[in-house]
This record gives sequence, C-alpha cells and structure tokens, in this order.
Amino acid sequence: MHRWSGRVALVTGASEGIGEAISRLLVKHDMKVVGCARNLDKLKAIDGELKKEEGGSFFPIQCDLTQRDQIYAMFEKIKTHHGGVDVCINNAGMAYPSSLLDGTPEEWQKSLDLNVIALCLCTKLSVQQMKERGVDDGHIILLNSMGGHRLIQGSNYLHFYAGTKHMVKALTEGYRDELRQKNSKIRVSALSPGLVESEFVVRLFGDDPDKGRKVLQTTPCLKREDVAELVVMVMQQPPNVQIHDILVRDTDQVK
Ligand SMILES: NC(=O)c1ccc[n+]([C@@H]2O[C@H](COP(=O)([O-])OP(=O)(O)OC[C@H]3O[C@@H](n4cnc5c(N)ncnc54)[C@H](OP(=O)(O)O)[C@@H]3O)[C@@H](O)[C@H]2O)c1
Repeated sequence: MHRWSGRVALVTGASEGIGEAISRLLVKHDMKVVGCARNLDKLKAIDGELKKEEGGSFFPIQCDLTQRDQIYAMFEKIKTHHGGVDVCINNAGMAYPSSLLDGTPEEWQKSLDLNVIALCLCTKLSVQQMKERGVDDGHIILLNSMGGHRLIQGSNYLHFYAGTKHMVKALTEGYRDELRQKNSKIRVSALSPGLVESEFVVRLFGDDPDKGRKVLQTTPCLKREDVAELVVMVMQQPPNVQIHDILVRDTDQVK
C-alpha cells in the first residue's frame, strides 16, 4: 500500500458498518480518508478514536447522498482542503423493506437515489477530480452485493434492493468500458459480499430491529473487517491488474 500513502480516499457511508471498517483500515495504511455520512456525531467519534490510536488522517463530512447539492458541495470541500479524490469507495447503500407488489414508490426512489444515482454522481465527480490533477492511477470501488448477482426466492423485501445492485453490476462494466475508451488507467472494481455483520439488516427491519439482530445471530456472516481487507487487496494490485468483481460469502452461508 506504499503508493497510496498520503493520498486521498473518499469513503461514503463511513459512520458505521463496512464503510467505517474500510476507513479505519485505510487510515492505518496512512491514507487521508474523507468519510461522509448523515450522522456527523458518529463520524466525529471515529475521528477522535483514530487520532488517538493511529495519529491518523480522517476527515468527516456530513452529507446526505440522496441530496445532489450536498454531493456537489462535498466535492468542492474535498478540492479546497485536500486537492481532490484519488480513490473513491462507493460504499453507502441501504435496503428498505419494500416488496415489488406491496412496496411504495417513495421507498424505491430512496433506494435508487442512494444505491445508484449517488454512486454514479460520486464516481463521475471523482474521475473529474483525478483528471483535473493528471491522476491516472486512481481507483473507483463499488460496493455491490451477492444480491447483485442472484435473487433469493421468497426474500420479497430484498427484491427492489437486488434490482439496484444488479444495476451496479452493469455499471461496473460500463465504467470499465468508458475509461478504456478514454485510454485512462483509472481502475474500477466491485465487491459483492453475502451477509455481513453490520447495521444493514437491523435497519432493514426498522420497525422490528430485534428481528434483524436475530438474523445476524443465526446466519453465518462475514465480518465487516473481512470486506475492508478485500478493499486493500484490490488496491494493492499492480497497475496492469484490474480486479473486476469479488463475490464473497461466509464459508457456511447457504444461499
Ligand atoms: N451488510 C450486508 O449484509 C451487506 C451485504 C452485501 C452488500 N452490502 C453493501 O455494503 C454497503 C455498506 O453496507 P453496511 O452493511 O455497512 O450498512 P450499514 O451498517 O447500514 O451502514 C450504511 C452506511 O451508509 C450510510 N448512509 C445511509 N444512508 C445514507 C445517505 N442518505 N447519505 C449518506 N450516507 C448514508 C450510513 O450512515 P448514516 O446513517 O450516518 O447516514 C452508514 O454509514 C452497502 O452498499 C450495502 O448494500 C451489505
């Protein structure tokens, strides 16, 4: 990870879960990590801990990624204070318990805005900042899911979410194609985990969080740190090696 030392990584959804684990690990690897989320207090608490533990560079920015003006403002701040993004880790993503036949367009829209549109806008603006500064070894990482590759029969509350993640699968190849058309060496990689121990499932059962906790207790799942280590593995590859997507599950996960 030497070549990334002192360089700028944006991690979206850094206040908890996988994004928090990725941020902590990249700070450990001496990167300047800009972590965004809606909950600024949680980001500040992580910053405080990292300053004590690692003497690290973590820069919290409050941003609701479903609000486009806030995304533009965040990228302006990054440009002013840090020059620009070298690595963009599009991690923020959520599922709402909204099935296809009984769900609401409001919930589908929120999911689409965060899981797809925000990811696209952050990627576009990151590549722009790389190009403005002549950075041709940047990296875009997209948090997909096993849900972007297969559907679990009967998991109605995850069907729309799986649709957004299938879009991320298509976008991964779209970005690779467009970057190649521009003779760019900027790389794009996706990570597609199965169940991971985080707040994701607890939030999914928002009105009954204990149900989410029970799923985590009874289903084999990856640790968020496992996913963070894979991000580092992807970023460590030599310039000619572009990992396209990693499908990864706990060894005992059934579906
Ligand atoms: N956990 C799993 O089983 C699993 C499996 C496969 C893939 N994934 C994917 O992995 C990624 C991370 O999931 P996770 O498990 O770490 O979930 P998590 O624990 O629920 O964390 C989600 C993060 O996204 C942030 N976020 C949510 N809405 C946001 C918004 N509108 N604007 C800005 N930030 C927002 C949250 O912070 P705030 O609430 O503070 O905004 C939080 O930091 C997602 O893309 C998810 O689809 C998860």
